[in-house]
Amino acid sequence: MSWNQLFRKKTLSQLLADTTDPQRQLRRTLGPVQLTLLGVGAIVGAGIFSTVGTAAAGGAGHVGAGPALAISFVLVAVACGFAALCYAEFAAMVPVAGSAYTYAYATLGQLAAWLIGWDLVLEYAVSNAAVAISWSAYFQELLRGFGLALPQWLGTDYRSAFQAAGEVAKAQGANLDLSTLGTVVLRDAAAWGAAPRWLGIPLIFNLPAFGIVAVVTWIVLIGIRETARINTVLAVAKLVVIAFFLVLGALYVRPENWTPFAPNGLKGITSAAAIIFFAYIGFDAVSTAAEEARNPQRDMPIGILASLGICTVIYIAVAVVLTGLVKWDKLANAEPLAYAFSSLGLNWVAGIIALGAVLATTSALIPYQIGQPRILFAMGRDGLLPAWTAKVHPRFRTPHTTTLLTGFFVAVFSSLANINELVELTNIGTLFAFALVAAGIIILRRTDPERPRPFRVPLVPWVPLGAILCSGYLMSELPWVTWVRFFVWMAIGLVLYFGYGARQSRKKKTPL
Ligand code: ALA
Repeated sequence: MSWNQLFRKKTLSQLLADTTDPQRQLRRTLGPVQLTLLGVGAIVGAGIFSTVGTAAAGGAGHVGAGPALAISFVLVAVACGFAALCYAEFAAMVPVAGSAYTYAYATLGQLAAWLIGWDLVLEYAVSNAAVAISWSAYFQELLRGFGLALPQWLGTDYRSAFQAAGEVAKAQGANLDLSTLGTVVLRDAAAWGAAPRWLGIPLIFNLPAFGIVAVVTWIVLIGIRETARINTVLAVAKLVVIAFFLVLGALYVRPENWTPFAPNGLKGITSAAAIIFFAYIGFDAVSTAAEEARNPQRDMPIGILASLGICTVIYIAVAVVLTGLVKWDKLANAEPLAYAFSSLGLNWVAGIIALGAVLATTSALIPYQIGQPRILFAMGRDGLLPAWTAKVHPRFRTPHTTTLLTGFFVAVFSSLANINELVELTNIGTLFAFALVAAGIIILRRTDPERPRPFRVPLVPWVPLGAILCSGYLMSELPWVTWVRFFVWMAIGLVLYFGYGARQSRKKKTPL
């Protein structure tokens, strides 16, 4: 293997030429409104409906921000804004499926492109496993509202059940009141006790999470036009539910809940920022639909920046209302928005919010289930993955093999893993991708200054440098165990690259 190959780049003209092969062409049907809603659909999901509770109250190794959660949202919006400008420049200039993977191939070379493609699995597939788990929690909440319930061992994961059983045993040993542990812990502990055993191991499986991923995979398989339509309806529905939360919530806000404003000071604000970053992920997913946009040069920047702007305003408003409704330290649960109302005795409102959360998280699943297969498809088209990954279905015109592969991976993962760990792993992977994309902007401005840029990041290199610094800072706020998992994942990627990808791409007949 030569150094040349590791740093071999694909020129932008080659990237664009790849998209004209009729056998491998996607269908261009998306306009600016659909792209913006695709972004909103990707952004508003488990983050604002679930993670926000831990961010405000603390827990899972984090210090809570309290009512200053609104400040955490502003800080992360600034960081994401820098990154969004960089994504917008690339997406308008290189409207090719593959997002950050493709941009890295054009600027940093094959090895970096592979690493970022591998890293993006954390942002797309792993995050979707987390969102599916959140979907499952709200779905089960809704079932309970109708007096229905799944067996406990079919509604959670092994690790949560194991930990919950340990907490209950400890509380029993100390003769403590078990109700202080909260309903989620008690439910998970019951799952541990009730699960059927195989060779003594409890069989615990998150069936709703598995099921929703299977359904979404089928939807995205049948075509981008149909998917965009369903996504548009769901994205609008969740905006309506959030508006409902804000308007009704504003009537019940008690200003005394806002003091003290920042109970844990700056530490609380930044610690919360590192988790609620998850809530913002998704504006960049718009760029994976670049090959399916009717007028990508104009509409990609609109889709990316407008979706981020809309969500920033919504999130700050939700943080203000939520922490005004309930004392911040009571919010550490999986459905804080519904809880805020049920704790005021307004169960019917809580029910509507739970239904809204189910719709919201369904719609948050779709863009990643669209994005991940297209990144793998782009890698396959470059010869870094086996040729079957670069196939397009003759009738649906979607990358069906990678869609099914992604569906299988996410469904299995979501049915077995723990949500908090997935959220942190997603965050570190996505922040790393943001930093590399921003570095790519600086590099390409030097190496290819003449290329037409329909959208230009202002104040280069300062804005991309801002994106790199902010991403690095948020990464540094994540626990060390997340860093270890991240390094292990990237190391596996390197082994696969040198063992397979690099060799395969050399065999490919067409020049890079
Ligand atoms: N931003 C997405 C969500 O919160 C990942 O679900």
